[in-house]
Amino acid sequence: MFTRLAVGLLPLLASVLAQESTSYVDPRNGITFQGMTDPTYGVTYGAVFPPLASSGPQPTEFIAEIVAPVAAKWIGLALGGAMADDLLLVAWPYNNQIVYSTRYTTGYVQPTEYDGPTITNLPSTSVNSTHWNWVFRCQNCTTWLGGGMDVTSGGAWAWAYGGMAVDDPANPQSTFAEHTDFGFWGEIMSNGHVSSATYNAYLSGQSSSSTISSSSATPTSHSSTSTTSTAPTSTPTPYDYIIVGAGPGGIIAADRISQAGKKVLLLERGGPSTGETGGTYQAPWATGTNLTKFDIPGLFESMFTDSDPWYWCKDITVFAGCLLGGGTSVNGALYWYPTDADFSTSNGWPSGWQNHQPYTSAMIARLPSTDAPSTDGKRYLEQSFNVVQQLLTPQGFRQITINNDTNSKDHVYGYSSYDFIGGKRGGPVATYFQTAKARPNFTYKDYTMVSNVVRNGAQITGVQTNDTSLGPNGVVPLTPNGRVILSAGSYGTARILFQSGIGPSDMLSLVQSNTAAAANLPPKAQWINLPVGMNVSDNPSINLVFTHPSIDAYENWADVWSNPRPADAAQYLQSQSGVFASASPRMNFWRAYEGTDGKTRYMQGTVRPGAASVNTTNAYNASQIFTITAYLSLGITSRGRIGITAGLNGQPIVNPWFQDPIDKVVLVQALKDIVSSISSVPNLTLITPDNHMTIDEYGYADEFAQATMDSNHWVGSAKIGTSSANAVVDTNTKVFNTNNLFVADASLIPALPTGNPHGMLMSAIEQATAKILALAGGP
Ligand SMILES: Cc1cc2nc3c(=O)[nH]c(=O)nc-3n(C[C@H](O)[C@H](O)[C@H](O)COP(=O)(O)OP(=O)(O)OC[C@H]3O[C@@H](n4cnc5c(N)ncnc54)[C@H](O)[C@@H]3O)c2cc1C
Ligand SMILES: *[C@@H]1O[C@H](CO)[C@@H](O)[C@H](O)[C@H]1NC(C)=O
Ligand SMILES: *[C@@H]1O[C@H](CO)[C@@H](O)[C@H](O)[C@H]1NC(C)=O
Ligand SMILES: *[C@@H]1O[C@H](CO)[C@@H](O)[C@H](O)[C@H]1NC(C)=O
Ligand SMILES: *[C@@H]1O[C@H](CO)[C@@H](O)[C@H](O)[C@H]1NC(C)=O
Ligand SMILES: *[C@@H]1O[C@H](CO)[C@@H](O)[C@H](O)[C@H]1NC(C)=O
Ligand SMILES: *[C@@H]1O[C@H](CO)[C@@H](O)[C@H](O)[C@H]1NC(C)=O
Ligand SMILES: *[C@@H]1O[C@H](CO)[C@@H](O)[C@H](O)[C@H]1NC(C)=O
Ligand SMILES: *[C@@H]1O[C@H](CO)[C@@H](O)[C@H](O)[C@H]1NC(C)=O
Ligand SMILES: *[C@@H]1O[C@H](CO)[C@@H](O)[C@H](O)[C@H]1NC(C)=O
Ligand SMILES: *[C@@H]1O[C@H](CO)[C@@H](O)[C@H](O)[C@H]1NC(C)=O
Repeated sequence: MFTRLAVGLLPLLASVLAQESTSYVDPRNGITFQGMTDPTYGVTYGAVFPPLASSGPQPTEFIAEIVAPVAAKWIGLALGGAMADDLLLVAWPYNNQIVYSTRYTTGYVQPTEYDGPTITNLPSTSVNSTHWNWVFRCQNCTTWLGGGMDVTSGGAWAWAYGGMAVDDPANPQSTFAEHTDFGFWGEIMSNGHVSSATYNAYLSGQSSSSTISSSSATPTSHSSTSTTSTAPTSTPTPYDYIIVGAGPGGIIAADRISQAGKKVLLLERGGPSTGETGGTYQAPWATGTNLTKFDIPGLFESMFTDSDPWYWCKDITVFAGCLLGGGTSVNGALYWYPTDADFSTSNGWPSGWQNHQPYTSAMIARLPSTDAPSTDGKRYLEQSFNVVQQLLTPQGFRQITINNDTNSKDHVYGYSSYDFIGGKRGGPVATYFQTAKARPNFTYKDYTMVSNVVRNGAQITGVQTNDTSLGPNGVVPLTPNGRVILSAGSYGTARILFQSGIGPSDMLSLVQSNTAAAANLPPKAQWINLPVGMNVSDNPSINLVFTHPSIDAYENWADVWSNPRPADAAQYLQSQSGVFASASPRMNFWRAYEGTDGKTRYMQGTVRPGAASVNTTNAYNASQIFTITAYLSLGITSRGRIGITAGLNGQPIVNPWFQDPIDKVVLVQALKDIVSSISSVPNLTLITPDNHMTIDEYGYADEFAQATMDSNHWVGSAKIGTSSANAVVDTNTKVFNTNNLFVADASLIPALPTGNPHGMLMSAIEQATAKILALAGGP
């Protein structure tokens, strides 16, 4: 249900959420609720609470309502703002009644029955031709296994919207496909209390005879529906190269291959991003300009607090961008030119890939970096740089211009470097995509989902899309000798391979048991067993949070979307300069470590004002907080596995962080080293962990083995190599045991580079594209 609410990334305080509840009266029942209407689906969520106790325990119940258009096939509500470890309420209409249940899950899987709360429907519960309206009393609903809500103040609540009917609507415990969408808001409970008399009046006349309660039924098995389309189509256009996915990998491949004169189709499941590409999603203060959320660097932190984050892939349980530009339209844009070690054979690359410099130079020629992104050349909000500089200098660190001295990654620091251009998000969308688009040989089609390639044994003949205007049943064909390149990201590419009958048999069996997807699988005799999804990497990372009197925490970025500092917003709109011309990081630093296994590992530090979460019982000044995130990068030995659920959602199956305990020892040592000189910086205070906890206790705590580690840098699900025993693509990036299927995205990267990966990835795709074009047998 509520996927990817990665705890470490989400400030869970209501006050920092983009949307907060307000007071409204539902005219049909006269109840004054504290709630909100989500703007996309028009579903209203509200709650009202009994009076607060002046002493002793607080009330443990409330009255709530969900008013949903009939297009909403089911709705979920998470009372703590996240899918995992929360009390979840799920409801849908059936035969003019509301079917509901309370549920719970500890992971990103189908939530199951949860007993304890008592739900009683109130009389204004109803279903009419346009809406269903569930009004109910929820008792014993403010605490649950491992959590609870603070009715004296407020907290994050989350909604989930299901556009597809549940499997067995008469059964309150029915299974259902993953939500179509989700969002969250700050429920300001402190504004939602009424007197006892009013509360009792709201409750009066309660009756629930028109509902099916959650306790009486038993779960049934999952049933699937086929979505195969049979609509008639026009004659399809064949292409020399069909490239699936318009992230950095797909865009660079499409640009270089169309430049070589080939007829190229680039398919993207999402829609426009920046204003230049037709995007229109704007902060209220930027209306009337062409500047979208994806243009303005200073809105980066708001990616994680948006009440309607439509730009994330809804069917992948970690953060992934599903719009033009993929991750590069939603990421922090930290951009490092690759080091020679990044492409070394000891970092997993096959021989023949070490001479990256011509490709890196080609990338820099198209997309140079900047460490002073404001158009006036000045640096803003630099206090955290200055403080950490004082911290690192006694440890022997020296300052460099990071992308001028690429191979220096030990005891160095510098200003954060970005691929912003002219004070706006630049990246591949503003560069490579623009030149591709201008060519008659290039066709771009967005809002087009590819489920699988169509193949006859080793020969790929086309791709299966969901758009029947592109070909019979949505199949787009290749020209003779044509090729398909998968660039759908580490999760997306793996899933397309599974749905094409390529991968480990356990994943292919999941596809086979899904009725719709099974229809497109080749016969079992043609399945190709390759280690798709095996041995993937992501950087383990741990945050240290500090305060210092010189820091401007910028309201922890909470106001940048709806209520920015007026002078900063005006300056940015006028000239794309000032605080908003940069994402939040201000400094990066690196240090090399030798582990007890004799292997060298690198630690990257990223410094930014603000913090995703603070854990201290000491008083501190929230206006003066900043974070150092310590990542383990080049040389990590831990690996994980990614795959799909029975519902075909992409997910980690084995978490990749700290599988090797030496990785953890090294990162915890790095944390200790970072704080070792803290006494040399007057008034610098570590608040997470605070003085009640040692770095060892903090670093070895269980939560750091969990998904809070996610750095969104997944690589290696279709690794490059020389043998199909441990790689998916060969040294030309062609999928083993196929004639004409290639991969060009983060999936092929065998191991992480020294810094955030997209700079190294783009150089790798420049090199991959040259090798694909040079490979005989193509169009
Ligand atoms: C929140 C976040 C912050 C990050 N910060 C940084 C950073 O500061 N610096 C850095 O270097 N890296 C960062 N990264 C990582 C970086 O963005 C990724 O490594 C990079 O985008 C991967 O590129 P890709 O081409 O492999 O895939 P993606 O960027 O994921 O692109 C895949 C594209 O394919 C499309 N697609 C997927 N499936 C299908 C399908 N079936 N049919 C059609 N289209 C499909 C998607 O919509 C998407 O547009 C961050 C990532 C995230 C999520
Ligand atoms: C309240 O709910 C919890 C589960 O969250 C359950 O263990 C407990 O028994 C319930 N209390 C009552 C009084 O029903
Ligand atoms: C149906 O219910 C909705 C929501 O409660 C209400 O706004 C609408 O007026 C109702 N329509 C009719 C025809 O009663
Ligand atoms: C494709 O590109 C080549 C080289 O630029 C050109 O000669 C050819 O006419 C183009 N074909 C189409 C269909 O645009
Ligand atoms: C917005 O972009 C369009 C197309 O690029 C351009 O014609 C227009 O002048 C731009 N408007 C503003 C306000 O920048
Ligand atoms: C970094 O390198 C660029 C290009 O060579 C050069 O223009 C710039 O002056 C250098 N900057 C610093 C600070 O050395
Ligand atoms: C195909 O899927 C995309 C992504 O989910 C969606 O936006 C688009 O509307 C779908 N197209 C059709 C024709 O169903
Ligand atoms: C917060 O810190 C306390 C000790 O100070 C610790 O017991 C607890 O586990 C920490 N919680 C989290 C979520 O880190
Ligand atoms: C907290 O920090 C801000 C910004 O430095 C400062 O203006 C304010 O006075 C501080 N508050 C307290 C209570 O010290
Ligand atoms: C540190 O804090 C003390 C008071 O606690 C204050 O007197 C002093 O000026 C501060 N020093 C700096 C460098 O801010
Ligand atoms: C995954 O990595 C482990 C440890 O390095 C190795 O033994 C195994 O062969 C790898 N598996 C694949 C499929 O590459």
